[in-house]
Amino acid sequence: MAACLCSLTACGAPREEAIDRGREVYLSHGCAVCHGPQGHGDGLAATNLDPRPIDLRDTSLYRQGTSASAIKQTLKFGLWNNKGAMPTYRHLSRQELKYLVIYLKSLHTATVND
Ligand code: HEC
Repeated sequence: MAACLCSLTACGAPREEAIDRGREVYLSHGCAVCHGPQGHGDGLAATNLDPRPIDLRDTSLYRQGTSASAIKQTLKFGLWNNKGAMPTYRHLSRQELKYLVIYLKSLHTATVND
């Protein structure tokens, strides 16, 4: 049992830390202004945009895919045929992108029902 708990902490802690760091990147780079503080697509600027920023929990709304590499591609090079307000984030470091993707993926497990 003790060994089991240890391995849980060993696996769990770094992931939680990476999610926290990703959340910091998310908040400090302005994603929340559009996508909302928790990624629900309800940021302060959201109502004025057409198309609206997506609810980042809902994987069916990711037109360019939800794999780590697809999301990185979207953030660095933008959305194909983008007519909306989604900016590119070429200036993010590899490390920042990595954490950001881990954070976004942690949202994907949440149930969308509101
Ligand atoms: C100025 C508002 C704005 C900001 C800031 C913004 N987004 Fe977006 N985002 C949008 C809009 C609008 C869309 C939908 C665009 C469309 O459908 O053409 C979108 C779409 C997306 C998508 C879906 C991509 C796909 O495959 O369809 C992802 C993922 C995303 N944003 C992540 C982020 C992240 C992460 C940040 C911060 C690094 C961010 N956005 C910052 C407005 C914004």
